[in-house]
Amino acid sequence: MIDGKMQEALNRHANAEFYSSYLYLSMSAYFRSINLPGFAHWMRVQAREELAHALKFYDHVIERGGRANLQLVEAPTAQWDSPLAVFEDAYRHEQKVTGLISQLVDEAVQTRDHATSNFLQWFVSEQVEEEASADAIVQRLKLVGNTPGGLVIVDHELAQRGSG
Ligand SMILES: [Fe+2]
Ligand SMILES: [Fe+2]
Repeated sequence: MIDGKMQEALNRHANAEFYSSYLYLSMSAYFRSINLPGFAHWMRVQAREELAHALKFYDHVIERGGRANLQLVEAPTAQWDSPLAVFEDAYRHEQKVTGLISQLVDEAVQTRDHATSNFLQWFVSEQVEEEASADAIVQRLKLVGNTPGGLVIVDHELAQRGSG
């Protein structure tokens, strides 16, 4: 049976992952609004991945004999100044989530919840990838600048992302 405080922390984190999904879907809507369908596609795939992350936490709490509690999901930002600003936000957001995962690992170790520690290891590796992929796109966008030609090329590249 899962410890009460650990359960609460995991439920809180499920909410952070639902928020991530909501944030990326909002970014996808922004890209649709400025006619960059490849960017919109990339963000929509990302939103689906974050939903899957949230459900992993939900399932883990239940599998450990706990209770999944769904909380209010905060409204995401809806408007940005440029595609670069969006990806800079995404990168910052992933860094924040990495910090949250680290805190959860500390809590799991402190409560000697080895099952949760083990469960969280997948997220530790996932966050390395998440930060790297957001940062790679930030760097790419800095390279091409805010030029229509450059954005169309990156849009075409981001359209190639598999649906995960
Ligand atoms: Fe996530
Ligand atoms: Fe993420």
